[in-house]
Amino acid sequence: MHVRTPVAKLLLFGATGDLAQRMLLPSLYGLHADGLLPEGLTITGTARSEHSDASYRKFAKAALDEFLPADRKDEKAAKSFLERLQYQSLDATDLTHYQQLAEKVGDVSGGLAIFLSTAPSLFEAVIRGLDSAGLAGATVRIGLEKPLGYDLASSREINDTVASAFSEDRTFRIDHYLGKETVQNILALRFGNSFFEPVWNARGIDNIQITISETVGLEERAAYYDGAGALRDMVANHMLQLLALIAMEPPARFDGTAIRDEKAKVFRSLRTIEPADAPLMSVTGQYAAGASGGEIVKGYIDELGKPSTTETFVAIKAHVDNWRWQGVPFYLRTGKRMTTRRSEIAIQFKPVPHSMFSNRGGLLQPNVLVIRLQPEEYVQMLMMAKEPGLDRDGIRLREVPLNLSLDAEFAGKPRRIAYERLLLDLIEGDQTLFVRRDEVEAQWMWIDAIRAGWVANDMKPKNYASGSWGPSAAIALTERDGVTWQDD
Ligand code: BG6
Repeated sequence: MHVRTPVAKLLLFGATGDLAQRMLLPSLYGLHADGLLPEGLTITGTARSEHSDASYRKFAKAALDEFLPADRKDEKAAKSFLERLQYQSLDATDLTHYQQLAEKVGDVSGGLAIFLSTAPSLFEAVIRGLDSAGLAGATVRIGLEKPLGYDLASSREINDTVASAFSEDRTFRIDHYLGKETVQNILALRFGNSFFEPVWNARGIDNIQITISETVGLEERAAYYDGAGALRDMVANHMLQLLALIAMEPPARFDGTAIRDEKAKVFRSLRTIEPADAPLMSVTGQYAAGASGGEIVKGYIDELGKPSTTETFVAIKAHVDNWRWQGVPFYLRTGKRMTTRRSEIAIQFKPVPHSMFSNRGGLLQPNVLVIRLQPEEYVQMLMMAKEPGLDRDGIRLREVPLNLSLDAEFAGKPRRIAYERLLLDLIEGDQTLFVRRDEVEAQWMWIDAIRAGWVANDMKPKNYASGSWGPSAAIALTERDGVTWQDD
């Protein structure tokens, strides 16, 4: 059994921000309502805005009212949850403010977990402030929300700053995809079943596709997103994490060291995309006007209100250079304002070595294992079957799905927000689903080379209509290899 050491206090930076309202407060409430928070755990919120404890509780209540699903609302539970909350305003750049914060938080000898989501420019000031006020000692752990830098150099700087006050075993880097139930299910699927492993390699698998398509556009995040783009926002973290879970060797144990060791090895095995190859191995796009999610929407530039060459779409052909994956392309694709919201992994197996049906007109398609992460949660194996009939005009074979609907199978089980799991693991001190420093740095190394290739080749994003699957060049990226994106 994993040893858990729950903290007695939680300190939330960015406590009035969007993430806090939409995700953190509802998640903490959910844990509280189910009796999963340690008894007596206090939650101190901090941000620049002025609030008394009472007005912050009101603010938090409004967030719960707005963002909790109806079936999770319970006035009694909300009332006792709000009693855990208190608030201290803070100018993160003013060192003297941290003393007041420390006084508000109180004694941390029983353990404190800090959740920090802040602009990268404030990291240094915050870490120094916490350290100077005694909020970084051995009983304190810190959860860090992205963006943790925008390239290898800046991420190293942030990691060094954090490491100056928090040892790695007290540092919890968040990738919220790892908190998703279906993402964790990849491990159960791969390592809880014996029949995948013998074919889970270059002999059995032809190619792997990972798609995260979204229908949303810029939302209210122009300041961050325009400086980031799809490669940094989605590939450098979520998509590479998914790739690693699919590609890694079987870990010996379900623990933070074993799992993260194997993921890190995958990141270090990613084949560097040399600048000369960037135009062939990657495609970038930016959404133009169109119709997405059932509404007419503006193009990115119009939404932003100024010219920009930021990519809102990226497709990449990646390789993992080790024995298991030699010659197997991993096609990654993500974009905003696409035709549908979908996170999915499609694993296409090799065709049968010889078709006995070809002289009787039967056509075969290779098997595909589809792992749908959202919005629905299912695993589907596309298999060949014979259509019923007397076959006078030849044998008709058809691809049919073998379905495992996780939604239906576990219908009675509550579905938790990814942050519920991650906040609880942070509070209890389980690092398994958090990203280690060597993982992050290996990810950036690979990402930086791609970006350098775009610069070297003066690659600009190609326009794609909102509501489409991205620029046509993304189709060419796979079709050149005789592979079609799994689009329906
Ligand atoms: C975030 C990105 O990390 O993930 C967003 O910054 C993106 O741009 C979001 O929309 C997607 O998360 P999910 O859970 O909705 O797939």
